[in-house]
Amino acid sequence: MSKIFFKNRGVILSVKNDVLHMLEQNKGANISGQELAEKLGVSRTAVWKAINALKEDGFFIEGVSNKGYSLAASSDLLSAEGIRLYLSDEYKEIPIKVYKSINSTNTEAKIMIMNNAGHATVILAEEQLSGKGRMGRNFYSPSESGIYMSIILKPRLNMGDSVLITTAAAVAVSLAIEKITGIVTQIKWVNDIYLNDRKICGILTEAVTDMESGTISSIVVGIGLNVKTEAFPDDIGGTAGSIFKMNENKFIRNQLSAEIINNIMSILNNISSRDFIEAYKERSMILGERVRYCKDNQWFEGYAQDIDHNGALIVFHDDGHKEILNSGEITVRRSL
Ligand code: BTN
Repeated sequence: MSKIFFKNRGVILSVKNDVLHMLEQNKGANISGQELAEKLGVSRTAVWKAINALKEDGFFIEGVSNKGYSLAASSDLLSAEGIRLYLSDEYKEIPIKVYKSINSTNTEAKIMIMNNAGHATVILAEEQLSGKGRMGRNFYSPSESGIYMSIILKPRLNMGDSVLITTAAAVAVSLAIEKITGIVTQIKWVNDIYLNDRKICGILTEAVTDMESGTISSIVVGIGLNVKTEAFPDDIGGTAGSIFKMNENKFIRNQLSAEIINNIMSILNNISSRDFIEAYKERSMILGERVRYCKDNQWFEGYAQDIDHNGALIVFHDDGHKEILNSGEITVRRSL
């Protein structure tokens, strides 16, 4: 199949970004410096400088005389250009910022909100030095092996719909993994994603309140997905897992990130239909199971019967009484 070059956006990008865009688009194939220069309307020196800058950023670009440059097929570094390539047309222009290393993409997102970042701004990092999990826990985020991403949303939603964003995000991630890898995952209420009984993804949603009006002005959806993470720390070694192992040589992090963004945006646009709840239930690993949950500092046990159209978990107790849980954590008590 012949590769088509085109400059598909009206915005003025730096030569470096344009070169990376073309290399990502033709990953594994050679493009001559002359061709890059002509397509981008810049000098060959400018192309050469851009290639060197990209190499300094860690991109593995080969330069072969008479053939040109190629981005290694095994390149799996995250980049705004690499992600944009796989975004649906309607989201192609969203702001995407990728950091090599950062404390937490959620914290950065909240700083960006204070500086007026808009709806659908996406922040990713190759590594988080203090990734945040739910309930004040840490999220292990080693370099170049996962997707650590925060999406800033400024949806005009009523309270009922906004609490569903986390549930929707779990479906978005699960469907994206299925589409890009063919691997079917399960969701543990509320929003942990499991593969082979190991947690591969957690989601931390944080709301930002407008001080003047007291209303929620923005929502940050933080997604931590272990794509090929290995050697987890002792405290999570028995429960955490990854989609792949490092030696399976999968180079799909940009594509998977894009598909997660596509899914989140499209589910969000249609959130009041509650259509995604069915997909959520189909992937639930707790429906039909006995579960334990903590409420008002007391532990209870019951049968996870259903998830309602608001994402709440309906638990039946042995004495027949019904509990509707809107949030919290549960543990599954599988019968042997
Ligand atoms: C959990 O399982 O407890 C939630 C984990 C959420 C981790 C993600 S990684 C990207 C974003 N930035 C953070 O600091 N946390 C979230």
